[in-house]
Amino acid sequence: MQKFKRIRGTQDILPEQSGLWQKIEQSIRTCMDHFNYMELRTPVFEQTELFARGIGEATDMVAKEMYTFLDRGQKSLTLKPEMTAPMMRAYIENNLAVKSGFTKIYYISPLFRQENPQAGRLRQFHQFGAEALGSGTADIDAEIILLATEIFRRVGVTDLKVMINSVGDPESREAYRTILKSYLNPLLNQYCENCQKRFETNPLRILDCKERNCRNLNRHAPKLIDHLNPGCQTHFDQVKVLLADNGIKYEINPYLVRGLDYYTRTVFEITSQELGSQDAICGGGRYDLLAEQLGGEPTPAVGFAAGMERLLMVLEAQKKLPEIKENLQIFIAPMGERASRQSLSLLHRLRQNGYKSDRDYSLRSLKAQMREANRQHAKLVILLGDNEMENRQYLIKDMVNGQQFSVPFDAIDEFLQKTL
Ligand code: HAM
Repeated sequence: MQKFKRIRGTQDILPEQSGLWQKIEQSIRTCMDHFNYMELRTPVFEQTELFARGIGEATDMVAKEMYTFLDRGQKSLTLKPEMTAPMMRAYIENNLAVKSGFTKIYYISPLFRQENPQAGRLRQFHQFGAEALGSGTADIDAEIILLATEIFRRVGVTDLKVMINSVGDPESREAYRTILKSYLNPLLNQYCENCQKRFETNPLRILDCKERNCRNLNRHAPKLIDHLNPGCQTHFDQVKVLLADNGIKYEINPYLVRGLDYYTRTVFEITSQELGSQDAICGGGRYDLLAEQLGGEPTPAVGFAAGMERLLMVLEAQKKLPEIKENLQIFIAPMGERASRQSLSLLHRLRQNGYKSDRDYSLRSLKAQMREANRQHAKLVILLGDNEMENRQYLIKDMVNGQQFSVPFDAIDEFLQKTL
């Protein structure tokens, strides 16, 4: 019979790995809470048009990477490739602005992009991220970057590089587009095919090309940050001061333009040399015009998202993965039918009382049961055989110090309270 395999570019998070995921997710949630961000969960699929309009038709993500399908009613739906557009859709649809004015949201979510799978690049991956909606001040740009770096600090990642840039506003960009195009025009036939296409659709993206030849050509291109209008320039200067105030070391990367069209003013990426060619662990920026593009009121906003799988890769490479220990408190080892029946009632009561506990279900030899208790790092083993049933006493072994106790059936609660 044919066996099924998972889809290329997807991963199973196995039981022995999920403890690690939960621990890191918990650190993220606690940090988000300390910064006063609240969780928003959106559906896994949305109308395709949301992403086409929100992220931009000409972006690689929309043009090449989305999982788009027609449902039975012939509606075009897309598995979400990122969270900023769905979050904004939910913000507008649910009137969150009216309910709370300035709104701070976070998410931890699976996402889907049909990219070429390789280390750190998956087709289903997970992001955690935060979005702050309703303020255009530089303070909140700085807060978002501080939040991302604080999460990385708490989970133990080191040696990250923070790169920032400003992509200006439409006015700055329009003026710069003309300057950039006149630089590119005479060199265009030396650029890659993709860049040649981008020349008309989105010449700024040419600066983001990863091809070596294009990168060399780009070295002498005029830079947008040298052509910002006064408002954008002041905003960028303030972000830099605030980051420095808070001890964030950053590099200004004038070529950082990001792959999504919604950005205005601040953009940033956090990279790790541990990640090889897919070196971004986190990316984000300001997107002051997205709300209007999606039919909402003007709402300045800024946010970041980081890849969970990439975070785990960096932690592993830096040997900083937190140790996850099985911490079973009690293992019951029944010997014989009568004891087995009594075991289930005892086990249920222990669990109702909040003890992490389990038992042997197959009446294996005592030796095999003790081995299982050891494998699960049980602190106590309750042995229950015919003798114990006769005397109405449990035989309890402390697996840490080897001590044994006989405890009457009706004194078990008191004993466990004292011991655990
Ligand atoms: P992004 O740069 O597309 O930005 O993704 C953010 C992070 O998600 C990346 O830095 C990377 O760690 C992870 N990531 C992206 N694609 C993959 C993949 N195929 N496999 C594994 N990890 C991946 C955004 O998504 C924006 N929505 C960020 C944002 C939030 N901007 C403003 N607010």
